[in-house]
Amino acid sequence: MKLPELKIANLTARIPIIQGGMAIRLSTGRLAGAVAAAGGIGLIAASGMEFEELAREIKIARDLANGGIVGINIMFVAREFLGIVNTAIKEKIDLIVSGAGFSRDLFKIGLEYGVPVVPIVSSAKLAKLSEKLGAAAIVIEGKEAGGHLGTDRPIKDLVIEIRPLVKLPIIAAGGIIDGQGIVDMLKLGANGVQIATKFVLSEECNAALEFKKMYQNAKEGDIRLITSPVGLPGRALKNPFSDKILNKTAPKPVGCDFCLKHCSLEYCIIQALINSQRGDVDHGVVFSGENVAKIKDRSIKPAAKIIEELVKEAEGAN
Ligand SMILES: Cc1cc2nc3c(=O)[nH]c(=O)nc-3n(C[C@H](O)[C@H](O)[C@H](O)COP(=O)(O)O)c2cc1C
Repeated sequence: MKLPELKIANLTARIPIIQGGMAIRLSTGRLAGAVAAAGGIGLIAASGMEFEELAREIKIARDLANGGIVGINIMFVAREFLGIVNTAIKEKIDLIVSGAGFSRDLFKIGLEYGVPVVPIVSSAKLAKLSEKLGAAAIVIEGKEAGGHLGTDRPIKDLVIEIRPLVKLPIIAAGGIIDGQGIVDMLKLGANGVQIATKFVLSEECNAALEFKKMYQNAKEGDIRLITSPVGLPGRALKNPFSDKILNKTAPKPVGCDFCLKHCSLEYCIIQALINSQRGDVDHGVVFSGENVAKIKDRSIKPAAKIIEELVKEAEGAN
């Protein structure tokens, strides 16, 4: 199948692939810029970043993007949500994708400043509400995704259910690891896909080598659901820290600055994500999509090469 362009409001991506935002500091300007330059849409994960840091990362992405599309991903549960959004708008971000919660205010801000807002949803109800409130598109995320999850339903079921209910462009996310996976979603009526796990294995992903090695060595039985203090389940790889989470022996937060709007304080998810990003994977959460162990070639390569291969596979698939 020849892949179509992905249109979101006034933006057109040559290749209908969004690189999913990955916090904390896993998808920074370098990865987002590389994906944008290759014709997809690159997302900087803004959650957990200082405002100045985000501004810097947006500039890095822009310099690399060669005119391509760069957005941010921000978790609604972050207390600094609005500050991050305002910083990104000031830096002339192309679009804002928001996950882990739902913000009515964000749609108003997007409409006021002319920045397309793309919420991540996992239900027909939120898909329809997003359209009513002025979303430019929706990411529908299924249970196969990495990170915080809003559903236990497979992505295919959600796309089939939601496609007839909205006119908005639909971007399918969760478990897509090859060209056939992309074609399957487009045939169900999606206009594009969002892929994250596969991009962890890129040169530009800002994860420490130890993090990427966990992906390279992951086996089917290593992928599990954990609880997150934000009140959502999360999909992550088996390691000593996720054992502790499941045994309820994970260390309580130290020096908490109440960075999340809702947090059970069961453990510090932000510190756990920072630890793993820096390579201390035994003391951190290593989020991952459900299909990581099914990725055949898990060598680390440039993001542009990953996109090139996905496009080639999709063109050969039907
Ligand atoms: C390591 C990792 C970190 C993630 N962090 C975020 C995040 O900060 N915000 C968000 O909305 N989604 C996050 N996600 C979800 C992805 O953006 C994406 O929608 C999902 O993982 C797609 O499924 P796939 O990983 O199987 O391709 C994360 C996923 C992974 C694997």
